[in-house]
Amino acid sequence: MRFGVVTLFPGMLQSLLETGVTGRAFERRVAQLVLWNPRDYTRDVHRTVDDRPYGGGPGMLMKPEPLLAAIEDARATMPHARVAYLTPQGRRFDQRAATELAQRSAMILIAGRYEGVDERVVGRCVDEEWSIGDYVLSGGELPALVVIDAVVRLLPGALGDDDSAQQDSYMDDLLDCPHYTRPEIFDGEAVPPVLLSGDHQAIRRWRLQQSLGRTWLRRPELLSSRGLSAEEQILLDEFIRAQNAG
Ligand code: ADE
Repeated sequence: MRFGVVTLFPGMLQSLLETGVTGRAFERRVAQLVLWNPRDYTRDVHRTVDDRPYGGGPGMLMKPEPLLAAIEDARATMPHARVAYLTPQGRRFDQRAATELAQRSAMILIAGRYEGVDERVVGRCVDEEWSIGDYVLSGGELPALVVIDAVVRLLPGALGDDDSAQQDSYMDDLLDCPHYTRPEIFDGEAVPPVLLSGDHQAIRRWRLQQSLGRTWLRRPELLSSRGLSAEEQILLDEFIRAQNAG
């Protein structure tokens, strides 16, 4: 999958290429990243990319001309890519959205700075808007990193073990179960015995029960919208009984 990012701070995106799972995915060409900097499209000696908002008020906006020129270059290089603007006003990005975006062959992300971008640029070339959460960041670079990371790990061949994205928290609309590694006893606390039993069915049930229980405790609204299978209902009832007894 090909990602184009329009950003005044390309260095922030570079870290993705150098680190961990995403770094390996880009190295193996599972994904590609192309960057465009609106500052390269300015024509004045100061290379101005921002200006004051009409109507007054604090802060600056990204000027339309260099931003639009950068986006147009990105679109010419990636003609089939939808253009996404990262903004707190956008559709909430979640695991379901990541799964949807992972089906695409390309996308262009616009990372805004300052108080935002001139609305005429949005009207002219933005196909969709995404928010990574109900808080305001200083720019769209971190949201772009979040979106690309979440999508890249879903691409075939991105993870060493292809199963592990499927087992991630949220892939099944549940929170993840607890995990343990060596030593077997750490600071007096033992690993749950079932995980040492070698009984794969029992381990699967325990993990599912922990996922259900954690979701019930921490994010009950996820359970109400999801519904439970018969087995899941039994496991959750047992978890709740144990919780009430303890
Ligand atoms: N830009 C600033 N804050 C943002 C957020 N929460 N999501 C997406 N883009 C943003």
